[in-house]
Amino acid sequence: MKNIIITIDGWSSCGKSTLAKQLAKALGYVYIDSGAMYRAITLYFLRNHINWLNTEDVNNALADITLSFKFNNKTQQSEIYLNEENVEYVIRDLVIAEKVSEIAAIREVRTFAVAQQQKMGEEKGIVMDGRDIGTTVFPDAELKFFMTADIAVRVERRYIEMFEKNPNTSIDDVKANLEMRDYIDSNREISPLRKAADAVELDNTSITIDEQLKIALQLAKERINREQD
Ligand code: DC
Repeated sequence: MKNIIITIDGWSSCGKSTLAKQLAKALGYVYIDSGAMYRAITLYFLRNHINWLNTEDVNNALADITLSFKFNNKTQQSEIYLNEENVEYVIRDLVIAEKVSEIAAIREVRTFAVAQQQKMGEEKGIVMDGRDIGTTVFPDAELKFFMTADIAVRVERRYIEMFEKNPNTSIDDVKANLEMRDYIDSNREISPLRKAADAVELDNTSITIDEQLKIALQLAKERINREQD
């Protein structure tokens, strides 16, 4: 059976990774969280006090960064490693979320991450989520989704998720962070967040996770079957 590439782009906290993980599992595909790569780079920059306004410093730092994904049998999830250290959980902190959009807008950082993402898609059979996957990373992907949801719903979902990890999180901080990231991600010069012309729009404000999966899986199966003809 021929494999395809499925891309899922959209605003912050729209449930992209939830859908991407479920789709990948149902199809036996590999899930790749491109946002985790930008988050891991941000973690490295913060920990090592990199001056990211200086291109040479950025290039030197990137030369010291190795990113990889490894499947954790215990959690049944693919987890990101920064220079062989599992950083899957620390990169979800609000401290990282506050800086990641700024760092993801840097040209050199994008070139570095996009090249690795494209390599991961060489064999197809992947579901990758992010902001520019259907537009820049895989413009020829066989199936593209663009996810949206009302801001109030997105804030609530992210707040519940963050609160579980850190009860000091405030809803205002979560809202401010989502709005800031959406603004930077969609207004940056290099590959801003855009719906690809051929992407299927999925608004999940008032549908359940199961309903969303059903719709996406149906489209994926149709597309994969067409590939065999
Ligand atoms: O999906 P996420 O929220 O973990 O992504 C974190 C940040 O990384 C997001 O605010 C913007 C950036 N990002 C990006 O610029 N391009 C991608 N393909 C994925 C994420």
